[in-house]
Amino acid sequence: MREIKIGLLGLGVVGSGVYRLLSENGDFMAQKTGSRLTIKKILVRDLGKPRPVSVPDGTLTTRAEEILEDPEIEIVCELMGGIEPAKSYILSALSAGKHVVTANKAVLAEFGPEVFQAAEAADRGLFFEAAVGGGVPIIKTLRESLSANRIQTITAIVNGTCNYILTRMQESGLSFKEALVEAQKLGFAEADPTLDISGMDSAHKLALLATLSYGSFVPAEKVYVEGIEGLEPLDLAFAKEFGFLTKLLAIAREKEGEVEVRVHPTLVPEGHMLSSVRLAYNAFLLKGDFVGEIMLYGLGAGAEPTASAVVADLLDAARLIISGAKPTSILYRETPLDIKPMPR
Ligand code: NDP
Ligand code: HSE
Repeated sequence: MREIKIGLLGLGVVGSGVYRLLSENGDFMAQKTGSRLTIKKILVRDLGKPRPVSVPDGTLTTRAEEILEDPEIEIVCELMGGIEPAKSYILSALSAGKHVVTANKAVLAEFGPEVFQAAEAADRGLFFEAAVGGGVPIIKTLRESLSANRIQTITAIVNGTCNYILTRMQESGLSFKEALVEAQKLGFAEADPTLDISGMDSAHKLALLATLSYGSFVPAEKVYVEGIEGLEPLDLAFAKEFGFLTKLLAIAREKEGEVEVRVHPTLVPEGHMLSSVRLAYNAFLLKGDFVGEIMLYGLGAGAEPTASAVVADLLDAARLIISGAKPTSILYRETPLDIKPMPR
């Protein structure tokens, strides 16, 4: 049995979920894949902080070099969030010859070309299924299963926190603030929840989905963004009276080489498939020119569904290590896309 050592950067909501999944399903995964994934070191900020998982003494460290410079560690799993130092650690891990798994949509949507090119130059895998959709396999669906299609539209609910807040305001009359506090307690929100409620986290995710769909980098700054901060329970109640539910939608459309990418609150008619997506669930309604319409649905945030996506990526990285296969490219198109400017 081949043992593959992992360095974890972060032991927060997602990191703890990953630790637990690897502990609980480790034997099962080892039997299935012939390799055992072992966490050797975990980077945190505060060694004394209480954790939802107990790890062996000496596993936690505050020194990133104990992971990035350890030749025994073959995969670095970045679950810290934020741009820096996460981005520098991802680049260091790649240049040290390690495969990288990350859930960090902010780094990928803002610095995609730099990070994707670093992975290619190092000939190492860069996996990011958990960056969009939590446990919903939307990245693999776009990169693999639908790769032969022209993706004509993506209409999606991609932020669990916003969908949770809107659901609680709509169904239970909670104030915006009360609903946000609940979403934070449940581990759905970003460390800085402004990213969620401003629509920026959705813009990061939409930029990544558009990048994968069109094969050329779509920067997050090109996405038109409106958040949900200004919405009151009364706005949602009025919309409901007229037969609409209010959802924060992320929309990408391609027509004749021109792409439109936008995130904003939208009135969705009751009875539409997206109107039934509640709480922290995400949904992706995709239209490809040959496949037609496809919908993916599932929990888009939280420790367990996100860990499911992260650990699947760890297993993919393990397969690359064992087979010695070459990782596949993320960007294909040489000419940049024409992105339609939207009103601000
Ligand atoms: P948390 O804030 O819960 O955890 C972050 C972890 O990283 C903590 O353990 C923290 O250490 C550590 N950390 C942060 N900054 C540093 C630093 N400078 N040096 C050392 N350690 C550091 O975040 P989440 O687990 O919620 O999110 C992690 C990533 O996953 C983010 O990119 C997020 O966008 C993404 N994600 C989150 C989902 C969710 O549902 N929460 C779903 C999908 C993706 P300490 O504990 O000591 O403070
Ligand atoms: N804060 C994010 C959300 C986490 O609520 O959707 C999942 O990416």
